[in-house]
Amino acid sequence: MIKTPKLLMIPGPTPVVRSILDQMARETVAFGDANFISDFKGLVADLKALWRCDGEAFVVAGTGTLAMEMAVANLTQRGENILVCSHGFFGDRFIDMCARKGLGVDALKSSWGTVYTPDQVDAELSKKKYAAVTVTHVDTSTGVLAPLKGVCDTLRKKHPDTLLIVDGVAATGGVECWMDWGIDALLTCSQKAFGVAPGLAMLWASARALEKRKSLGAIPESYFDFERWLPVMRDPSKYWGTPAINMIWALKEGLRLIQEEGLEERYARHIRQARIFVAAMEALGFKTAATQERRAPTLSIFLYPEGAGVDDVAFRVKLADEGVQSAGCLGEFAGKGFRLGHMGNIDKHVLVGAVAAVERACAALGLEPKPGKGLTVLQAGLMAEGK
Ligand SMILES: Cc1ncc(COP(=O)(O)O)c(C=O)c1O
Repeated sequence: MIKTPKLLMIPGPTPVVRSILDQMARETVAFGDANFISDFKGLVADLKALWRCDGEAFVVAGTGTLAMEMAVANLTQRGENILVCSHGFFGDRFIDMCARKGLGVDALKSSWGTVYTPDQVDAELSKKKYAAVTVTHVDTSTGVLAPLKGVCDTLRKKHPDTLLIVDGVAATGGVECWMDWGIDALLTCSQKAFGVAPGLAMLWASARALEKRKSLGAIPESYFDFERWLPVMRDPSKYWGTPAINMIWALKEGLRLIQEEGLEERYARHIRQARIFVAAMEALGFKTAATQERRAPTLSIFLYPEGAGVDDVAFRVKLADEGVQSAGCLGEFAGKGFRLGHMGNIDKHVLVGAVAAVERACAALGLEPKPGKGLTVLQAGLMAEGK
């Protein structure tokens, strides 16, 4: 029997294309291998240049959570204040992390599906002295995009001494964002909009962030201390922790694909694909949790049609049977819908396959409308774009 592979449509890990998988399957070499050192050096240099970073880019084995902790560990010290701007589950993750570090934590929280404004951030920051502020660019639990550029501008104008930490895990590589907007630490990991398998944490630190780290002297953390990794990032023949050799090759190939596409075009593609995909899903009766103007280009929370009495687990099991792996909703949206990623190296075939599977799952559960309505909208959108 021919087995159709399941489309990996959860909001990370995202589908990994063949050329990246091939890098993971290469014969592993010593971390002192001259060709590997040159590959690693080139990768770090490209990351730094592409995201307009005046400090350093770090690539270490780990996940997005490690990168979040790395940012907090190196940019703040016990006793300082931090403002966590959260619009969901992953924004909230900073609260506990920062409290454990011994920081004075205040949180600017938005109700689920909405997000704070730059003015609200300004008002909070005006109440006391904050060493740093965190923003989650896209919260994966809500599919809402934070007003990052607006926050950057506000900080530059009104709170220039406060460092800005940006969690770009569900955005970076798929949504526009540059370090020279005034970001001090931008963090992400390999398995989301970069389209690489899980395993690597990435962090861009501004020159000012590196200075702050230096001013702290010895810090309690060791594995992800900037001072430990800086010599390695500048000269990968140096050792601190064993580099994840095959993953670094995989990320290098991921970045090559990004460069081939061009970052600007990649950002534009994510916006186009999201618009067309969401329109098709809306034609099937689903609503996004995010309002149109704050919808993330990288993933969506699709809420079941009100009053349709959809059994969440039954729907997602059927969808998986039909070939699409989705994720359940978190927090206030749990049971009310499902999450689908549309980021990274996805193409028309993935979108068509996903909408077709959703239509079959709806039909199997007796939901309106009849199959074809979503695909008609999707195909029209794809053909209108012509790309
Ligand atoms: C916005 C955001 N931040 C942080 C994380 C944590 O990343 P990881 O699971 O790789 O530790 C996630 C995971 O989905 C995320 O979506």
